[in-house]
Amino acid sequence: MSVLQIHSSARLEGSNTRILSQYLVESLGQPVVSRDLAQQPLPSISAEDLIDIHASAEHSQPSFQQQLALSNQLIDELKEANTLVLGAPMYNFGIPASLKQWIDAICRAGVSFNYTEQGPVGLLGIQRAFIITATGGTPIGSEMDFASRYLEHICRFIGINEVSHIDASGSKGSPEQVIAQGKQQIDNALLAS
Ligand SMILES: Cc1cc2nc3c(=O)[nH]c(=O)nc-3n(C[C@H](O)[C@H](O)[C@H](O)COP(=O)(O)O)c2cc1C
Repeated sequence: MSVLQIHSSARLEGSNTRILSQYLVESLGQPVVSRDLAQQPLPSISAEDLIDIHASAEHSQPSFQQQLALSNQLIDELKEANTLVLGAPMYNFGIPASLKQWIDAICRAGVSFNYTEQGPVGLLGIQRAFIITATGGTPIGSEMDFASRYLEHICRFIGINEVSHIDASGSKGSPEQVIAQGKQQIDNALLAS
């Protein structure tokens, strides 16, 4: 089993989510599969293909088959992981568009979740997720934070029960302080597990 590390910061240097995500995966000490949504953005999807992928429809149109193959690959990466590490910079109070595109590709009825009479049930057997959210100042957990709680909801929706937040909000001080406090939160989360 391995760690799936998802990067979505547009900053390739000096990114708080990238720095903390790297510290976390090195601390976990397991094999890591990394997907960088900023450096290798997912291809755009047509309106028709998006609806069909979401509905887990089947047809032979080439663009649909390409999107289906990509969605299957992304879901396989999740299935092979026991830990998911999501690095999410806050952009305009939410998540980067690249990360939303990944979410739209991995949430598939009958594949990663099922609707039941008791409500949605996640189908991906990932043990744990870490959500690292960085902001320029917006406090994590505040009413302006539409990033971290949304990501926790998606993790639980696909069946990840244990979700830990690493708060890298700019409201915590200088970049050095944000990183130091983020590393401390990671150490504490790993000690507690
Ligand atoms: C397009 C864009 C939108 C942003 N919107 C917000 C925002 O709504 N609230 C906030 O506190 N910071 C905002 N920021 C600042 C980033 O969240 C902050 O720089 C954070 O550290 C980015 O994560 P990173 O260090 O991993 O790149 C924004 C930055 C960019 C580039």
